[in-house]
Amino acid sequence: MARVELESVSKSFADTTVLSGINLDIADGEFLTLVGPSGCGKSTLIRIIAGLEPQTSGQIRINGEPVDHLRPHERRVAMVFQSYALYPHMSVFANMALPLTMQRLSLWERVPLLRLFSARRRRVMPEIRREVQSVAAQLQIEPLLNRRPAQLSGGQRQRVALGRAMVRHPNAFLMDEPLSNLDAKLRVHMRSELTELHQRLKTTFIYVTHDQVEAMTMSDRVAMMDAGRILQLGTPAELYARPSNLKVAQFIGSPAINVLPVRIGDGGMVELPGSPAMIHTSLPPGSAASIGLRPEALHLLPSGSPRDGAVLNARLRRIENLGAECMLHFDLLALPGHGVIVRAASIKGLSVGEEVVLGYDIASIHLFDAKGERAEVLPISAHPAQREAATP
Ligand SMILES: Nc1ncnc2c1ncn2[C@@H]1O[C@H](COP(=O)(O)OP(=O)(O)OP(=O)(O)O)[C@@H](O)[C@H]1O
Ligand SMILES: [Mg+2]
Repeated sequence: MARVELESVSKSFADTTVLSGINLDIADGEFLTLVGPSGCGKSTLIRIIAGLEPQTSGQIRINGEPVDHLRPHERRVAMVFQSYALYPHMSVFANMALPLTMQRLSLWERVPLLRLFSARRRRVMPEIRREVQSVAAQLQIEPLLNRRPAQLSGGQRQRVALGRAMVRHPNAFLMDEPLSNLDAKLRVHMRSELTELHQRLKTTFIYVTHDQVEAMTMSDRVAMMDAGRILQLGTPAELYARPSNLKVAQFIGSPAINVLPVRIGDGGMVELPGSPAMIHTSLPPGSAASIGLRPEALHLLPSGSPRDGAVLNARLRRIENLGAECMLHFDLLALPGHGVIVRAASIKGLSVGEEVVLGYDIASIHLFDAKGERAEVLPISAHPAQREAATP
């Protein structure tokens, strides 16, 4: 069990900075996910926590103790790699037992033939076998213990790699994209297995992925990284509902959030594309900004309904029918070259090429400034009369 703290951790390779001032306080037993685009520094950060790579500056503490001077195995954390890193010439049992034999037996007690003369080895090995079998039972890989890694499927190899980490009873599990070599169906299955494993072990998990679905479904908290920095740290629900940055908004959620350019008019009025409705912001007049609308925030307005709220005139370009729901792809008539995706329960009798009016609640608007930072939306009424009354 471990609390893992990172204080101002930075890393440069030669003159390239890949991590800048990372601060993180990961609670004992927490499932924390580092998510972000390729090259943002996720693997480098988790390798620094594991002790496989030294940081350029900053401190790592485990249970309050600085561990910067400790070697990987002395930190009592276990790393699970994307490539599994199993030894091909060893059986599954030997692979899983390896951390324990390394820990409990001397070099000569591990040398083939010579080891047969060790009485201590004969005493220790049954203990190790029991421990490996107990972990193998938890992961349902007992029948595979005598096989070689080449004789296993991807999912089975992944379990062996997990098992090898579990036998050490580490303070924390560090996992770098452990599911990315599995096919889509198995990945979904292993996602729930890992979540259940975390609930059972109650150990700290630090998990790296570039898959936002994994981050959203498995984690207690998510740290979204970009270019060596943490853009936002929060629960999956917080990142989805209140992204602090346009990049977070675009990364989290599938299909991705719809982003439309807007201009800030006089008095901080945001000119919504093709819509009489207005919102207000403290961003400077004349500046460029953008709004984000989640696919479920937009809905089709029945023909003949009042159109003085927030609306978008749109033409249906494509229908993606997913069975339980549909993604409707629209081109926007007021914003040539821009489109939106609408999540709908059914096709609603629509056909491609049809023109419709999409409505949305102004409370669902995410506003971002020219740099992509979240800006506050101050709503004023959509109704023209009230709008005049609200304008000094
Ligand atoms: N040993 C190294 N020497 C020089 N540059 C490196 C080294 N290791 C990583 N980098 C660089 O550091 C940056 C971050 O790499 P890192 O592997 O941490 O990214 P990542 O977020 O894990 O990406 P991915 O999702 O593709 O695995 C990249 O630009 C990479 O090229
Ligand atoms: Mg990586």
